[in-house]
Amino acid sequence: MRDKIGVAVAGCGVVGSGVVEMLTRNRQIISRAAGREVFLKYMVDIKKLDPPEGVTLTQDLDQVLADPQVKVLAETIGGARIAYAYTRKALEKGISVITSNKELVATKGDELKALAEQNGAWYLYEAAVCGGVPVLRPLKTCLAGNRITRLDGIVNGSTNYLLTRMEQSGLSFPAALGEARDLGYVEADPAADIEGWDARRKLAILANAAFGSNLSDDPAIATEGISRLTARDMACARALGGAVKLIAHGELVENGWTGWVHPALVPQGHPLYDVKDVFNGLCVTGDCVGQVMFYGRGAGMLPTASALVGDLIEIARDLESPLILEKAQPPRMISPMSRTVQAALRVEEGILSLCEAVPVEHVVSLEGMNAVRTRPMPLEQLLAKLDAARGLGVQTGIPLLLL
Ligand code: HSE
Repeated sequence: MRDKIGVAVAGCGVVGSGVVEMLTRNRQIISRAAGREVFLKYMVDIKKLDPPEGVTLTQDLDQVLADPQVKVLAETIGGARIAYAYTRKALEKGISVITSNKELVATKGDELKALAEQNGAWYLYEAAVCGGVPVLRPLKTCLAGNRITRLDGIVNGSTNYLLTRMEQSGLSFPAALGEARDLGYVEADPAADIEGWDARRKLAILANAAFGSNLSDDPAIATEGISRLTARDMACARALGGAVKLIAHGELVENGWTGWVHPALVPQGHPLYDVKDVFNGLCVTGDCVGQVMFYGRGAGMLPTASALVGDLIEIARDLESPLILEKAQPPRMISPMSRTVQAALRVEEGILSLCEAVPVEHVVSLEGMNAVRTRPMPLEQLLAKLDAARGLGVQTGIPLLLL
């Protein structure tokens, strides 16, 4: 057998504890899959914890990184401050890093991947997108011979849960949020989830894997979250034959790639229509494979740990020969404003003025409001026409982009 791989887990919250549990419970399975012994050696945390037998709990990262048996650091701290410093320290020493930290990957990922490469180490982050559902590695391996042209995903479980509750029980957004809080389905500060920033980070990471774009495109992705939606938007979507989902959309366009995160109307029959509750789903279109769908648990202790351990096994198999690929020029990020879209709209007041201002294809009258489907037009034009209509006293919700 080849050299053993010692692992240190930094940050033993929900996800880190999952990695500890999995490495302890499935040590033999993991070692067999890796072709060498893989063992947990350190837990790095300031909390008083009860480590499994043979594992050292410490606050001293330098001591951990100086141990020649430690080949991989699992960074499950989260955030982009301490996690960044720890990741840099490990990579500079040639110690590979695996992580679920989408914020760090979407802000510093390009730099950290380059640092890993310079030092003969790996920086892998399968767990950062869709938790336990493998999406990045299939894109980079099984589907790598395709030209990936499009991806559409429900990549945030908390918001999908909120939308499902609003849809099924007619709950208002604040009521659904309160319920999700009680169940521990949203973070203490839910802003990143409900404003769409978490989905935007995941889209930047997916686009990098699918189109080869820069991870740092993240802030340029047009983003609208779900906090301005009401239960009446759900009724509007239903009347038009679909359901509201927070969609992360990316596509290859002439001269680059474009993407948005936005509430969308997903029609019945679309593979993402039945992705409900905390589940994630991702549809990828490749020029040869056609449409492929990924589905499963996008968060949680053991599902996320499963993705981290998958990365660990990949590193353990190929530790001595990290694959360095020739880099193509990353596609430019193009604003989605000139893309042609269709939208569904809830119109509470002023349907006639709305129809004068915005080209409309279909109207359904509902109790106290109309559900409207617009004709296709550039996104920029749609938003401008809606602003103009609102100026004339039309009361309408945010547009739901048609998938
Ligand atoms: N808050 C995230 C979600 C956690 O709900 O999807 C997993 O990335």
